[in-house]
Amino acid sequence: AFEVTLEKSGKTVTVPEDRSILEALRDEGVATVSSCESGTCGTCKTKLISGDVDHRDMVLMDHEQADHIMICVSRAKDGDLVLDL
Ligand code: FES
Repeated sequence: AFEVTLEKSGKTVTVPEDRSILEALRDEGVATVSSCESGTCGTCKTKLISGDVDHRDMVLMDHEQADHIMICVSRAKDGDLVLDL
C-alpha cells in the first residue's frame, strides 16, 4: 500500500495493493472522473505534484509523465504521491 495526498482538499488516502488510486479515492468520497478504467481513454488524467509514479497507462506522452498520472491504472513506484486534487 501507499498513500496519496490530495493537495487541494487536504486529504490523505491509503491505496491498498488490490485497489486502484481511483477506487481508493472514490471509496473516500472524493469526486473523480473516469470512463474506461483501463488506462486507455484519458479521462482520469490528473496533475501530479510530487512522487515517483509507476506509469501503467497507454495515454500519456513521455513529456507528460513527469507531472501527470492516470489514476485508474498507475501507481506509486516508491513512496507516496501528491496529486493536484
Ligand atoms: Fe480511462 Fe483512466 S479512466 S484512462
